[in-house]
Amino acid sequence: MTVSGSVKPPARVTSYGDPGFSRFLRGAFLASAGFDRDDLARPVIGIADLRSDFNPCHRGVPDIIEHLKRGVLEAGGMPMVFPTMSLGETLLSPTAMLFRNLLAMETEELIRAQPMDAAILLGGCDKTVPAQMMAAASSDVPVLIEVTGPMITNSWEGERLGACTDCRRMWAKYRAGALSDVQIETVEGSLATTSGTCMVMGTASSMACMAEALGMMLPGGATPPSPTGGRLRHATATGRRAVELAREPRLPREILDRSAFLNALRVLAAIGGSTNAVVHILAIARRAGVALTLDDFDTIASQVPLLIDLKPSGSGYMEDFDRAGGVPVLLKELESLLDGGHVGVSGRSLTEELADVPRAQSWQTTIRTLDDPLGPAGALAIVSGSLAPDGAVIKASAASAHLMEHTGPALVFDDPVDAVSRLDDPDLDVTPDHVLVLRNAGPVASGMPEAGSLPIPRKLAEAGITDMVRVSDGRMSGTSYGTVVLHCAPESAVGGPLALVRNGDLIALSVANRSIDLLVDDAELERRRQSLPERTKPERGWSRLYADHVMQANLGADMDFL
Ligand code: FES
Repeated sequence: MTVSGSVKPPARVTSYGDPGFSRFLRGAFLASAGFDRDDLARPVIGIADLRSDFNPCHRGVPDIIEHLKRGVLEAGGMPMVFPTMSLGETLLSPTAMLFRNLLAMETEELIRAQPMDAAILLGGCDKTVPAQMMAAASSDVPVLIEVTGPMITNSWEGERLGACTDCRRMWAKYRAGALSDVQIETVEGSLATTSGTCMVMGTASSMACMAEALGMMLPGGATPPSPTGGRLRHATATGRRAVELAREPRLPREILDRSAFLNALRVLAAIGGSTNAVVHILAIARRAGVALTLDDFDTIASQVPLLIDLKPSGSGYMEDFDRAGGVPVLLKELESLLDGGHVGVSGRSLTEELADVPRAQSWQTTIRTLDDPLGPAGALAIVSGSLAPDGAVIKASAASAHLMEHTGPALVFDDPVDAVSRLDDPDLDVTPDHVLVLRNAGPVASGMPEAGSLPIPRKLAEAGITDMVRVSDGRMSGTSYGTVVLHCAPESAVGGPLALVRNGDLIALSVANRSIDLLVDDAELERRRQSLPERTKPERGWSRLYADHVMQANLGADMDFL
C-alpha cells in the first residue's frame, strides 16, 4: 500500500508532522474521488498526461491513456493520471527546446512528490520524450516510456507527403516560385492529417527509437502509427508491465548504463537519426551518470551504415518502418554489433528479446541489412576546430556530397531575426560558394532554436541552388536536410569563435578530416575578442534561470544544477 492505510508505510507523505494523520487525510481525500482502501492497496501507476490543444501531435493521447489504464487495471494495479506541461514543437516561442529542461524538472519532481510505485510517461512531440527520459534517469521508481506514435502519410496531387521533410521541401519550392499561393495553401492542408508525431525520421521518431533501443520502452513501441490498433495494443501491454515493474522494481538508472547508450548510438547511426538526438542523449546520459561524449557518437557512427530508408536520409516514412517490423527487426539486423546482455524494462535480455524476431524480409525495402545498406557509415559526423573547439555536428547522410569538403567566404547573420530580415534581399551579396554563418542561436543566447538550417537566399533559390554550407550554434529540425553544421560549441553568446567571424573570412569544412576552421590568424581573433559587446540576459523568470544555468550543447544543454 502506498497511497493510504498502514500496511506498508508510504515513502512519500505530505508533511503535517504526523505521518499517520497524513495517510488518513490522503485516504479521506482520495475517497472523495471514489478510491477505497482496496483500490489503494494495489500498485499505483502514475501516468503522465501531456494532452494540450497547443500540441496537435498529442491529439491521440486520450485514447492511448485509456489503453494504458486498461493494462494497469488488468494486471491488478491502480492507474492515476497526472498532467504535466505539454511542449508542442510548432506552437512554442521562441523554441520548444527552451522548455525541455523545465518539463524534465517538472516531471522528475512530480514523480518524486506524488505517491506512485511506477510511472508511465506518455510523450511524443520532439522535446517531450527527451525531457521524460531525463526525468526518468533521475527517478527512484520504475519508469516506462510510451509514445503517441507517428502520423500516417497523406498525398497531394498524387504525391505522397508527410511532415516535415516535405514541409520544408514544398516551402523551398514555394520560395523558389515553383508553387503558387493557392498550391501552397492546399499543401498546408495535406502535410499533417492524422493524430501523431512527424512521420519521417525526425527528432520525435529518432527519440522514440532511442527510448526503445535504450530499453526504456517495451519492444515494438517506437513505430506503430498513432491512429492504429498496434499503438493501442502496445499501450495496454505497457500498462500491464508497469504493474509488474512496480512489484519487482527495476529502476531507470539500472537500465541506463553505458552499454544501453552504446546500443542506442548504433541504432541512431543505422536510422540516420536526428542531430537533435545528439543533444538529448548527452543530457540523458549525464543524468544517468554515464560518461558519454561527442566522440562516442562519431566513433560509432563511423562503424554503422545507414540501414533505414526514411526521409530525410532516404525516401520512406515511419509507417513503412512499422510494417517492415520496426525497431525489433532493425535490432535483429544489428545484433552482431550490440550488447545482447542488456536488460531493459521488459526484464528480458536483448538476446532473449531478439530470439524470435525475424530478419528483415525480402518483400520490403525499408530495413536494409549490414550486407546491403542504404548508405555508408558516417550518417552523423562530429567536426571540431578553430570555429568549434568543443565540437559541432553535421548530418552527413542528409548533406550534399560536393559540399562536404568546402572552403568559402563567410556571410554572417547576427541572430535568427537578422537572417530572416536579409535572406530574401535581392541585393544580398551572396554566391553559392559562401558559407552562411548564424550566431546567437545557441542555448544561452536563445534556447537553441531550430534556426540552423537557414533557407537558401531567395535570389540563389530562384536560380536553382538547393544547398549551401551553413554553420551555426543553433539546431535544425530532425526533418531537415542540407550541408548544415550545427551545435558549434562553445556558442557565440559565451564568447565562442562564431562571435568573432566577419563577412568575407574564409571558413573551411572537411567532413573527411572532421574539421571546421576559421582561417583567420590568432592575433586578429584576439583583437576582435577584445571588442566584443557585453551581453545582456533576460531579466526574469524561466528565461533568466535558463540563461544563467544552461550548459553547452556538447554537454547536453541541461541545467548545471540537475
Ligand atoms: Fe510534433 Fe513534429 S511537430 S513531432
